Amino acid sequence: MNRIDFTKKIIGLAPMAGFTDKPFRQLVKSFGCDLVYTEMISARGVFEDYKENGFSKSLKLAEFEDAERPILVQIFGREPKIMAEAAKIICNKFDPDGIDINMGCPAPKIVKNSYGSVLMNEPELAGQIVKVVKRASGNRLVTVKTRLGWKDSKGVGDFILTLEDAGADLIALHCRTKMQGFSGDPDWDAVRQIKKNIKIPILVNGGIKKWQDVDKCLSASDGDGVLIGQASLGRPWIFQEIREARSITLSYDEITKICLQHVCLHRENCGNFVELKKHLLHYYKGIANCAKVREKICQCNDVKEFLSIVGTFGSQ
Ligand SMILES: Cc1cc2nc3c(=O)[nH]c(=O)nc-3n(C[C@H](O)[C@H](O)[C@H](O)COP(=O)(O)O)c2cc1C
Repeated sequence: MNRIDFTKKIIGLAPMAGFTDKPFRQLVKSFGCDLVYTEMISARGVFEDYKENGFSKSLKLAEFEDAERPILVQIFGREPKIMAEAAKIICNKFDPDGIDINMGCPAPKIVKNSYGSVLMNEPELAGQIVKVVKRASGNRLVTVKTRLGWKDSKGVGDFILTLEDAGADLIALHCRTKMQGFSGDPDWDAVRQIKKNIKIPILVNGGIKKWQDVDKCLSASDGDGVLIGQASLGRPWIFQEIREARSITLSYDEITKICLQHVCLHRENCGNFVELKKHLLHYYKGIANCAKVREKICQCNDVKEFLSIVGTFGSQ
C-alpha cells in the first residue's frame, strides 16, 4: 500500500549507502522527513543468498520499522529476472511502500558491472526492468532514482518517458550528470522542461545544502518535492528547519543530545560501532574545537569512550 502523500511537496531523505540505515532513517522521521529510502541493495545478493539460506546480509539491509514508512527499498542490478525476484522477496518479507531502482550510481565498482548509471545508456533494458519489477511488486510503487544523463542532459527527457511508459510511479532525479559525479552545480532548471512531457511526480535532488535552498530548487524545477542527502548527515534537524522555514542553531550540548538519541537508536538496532562512528563524526563538523573532538572520536572504539569524549568537551 502506498502511504506517500502526493498532494503536497515531498521532503525526503536521499538514499546513501553506509548512512541511510535504520537508526538514521528513524531519526530523520522524528524531525519531519516525509519519505525515506534504504541504501542501495544488490538484487543479486538478495536473490542468491535467499535461495541458499532463506535470509542474507543484503536482505537485512531492507529491514525497517513501521515508524519509517513511507519507505522505498532501493535495489541495484541489471538482469530483469534477478531484479524481479529480488523485488518479490523483499515485498513478501517486508512489505515496503515501494521498490526503487538505482539507475544513477556513478561509483566505479557499480559502473564496472554495468549497474546504476550505466542503465541510462540502455533505455530499452531500463524499461524492461521497470516492467518486470512492477509485476513482481504487486500494488506497491515502483520508482527510479537516476541522473541528468551520462555526459549531458540531452536524452534524459526521453529516458524518463521510457520509464514512465514502462510503469514507473515516481522519479527521483539527481540533477547532475554521471560525469559530474558529486561536484559541480546541479541543474535544477532542467527538470522544468522534462516535467512538461511527464505525468508522474519528479523529486529533485542534488546540492540542497540548507533549508532556504528547498524553495529555490522547487521554484527553479517545478519539482514535486526534494530529496536531501549530504546536508542531513550530522544535521537530521534540517527536515524540521525546512518544515518550519527557519534556521535552527544548536549549542554543543543540544547537538550532543541529538547525537545520543542517534546512539540509542543504533543500539536498539544492534548496529556495530564502526558504522555509527561515521555518523558521529558528522555531528561535530563546524563547531568550536571540532578538529579535536573529531580526532578523538576517530580514535574511539565504543559508545562508552565516545560518551566520555563528548562529555569532556561539553564541560569546557
Ligand atoms: C555517501 C553517499 C552514498 C550514496 N549512496 C547512494 C545510494 O545507495 N543510492 C543512490 O541512489 N544514491 C546514493 N547516493 C547519492 C545521493 O542519494 C544523492 O543523489 C547525492 O548525494 C546528491 O544529493 P545531495 O547533494 O543532497 O547529497 C549517495 C551519496 C553519498 C554521498
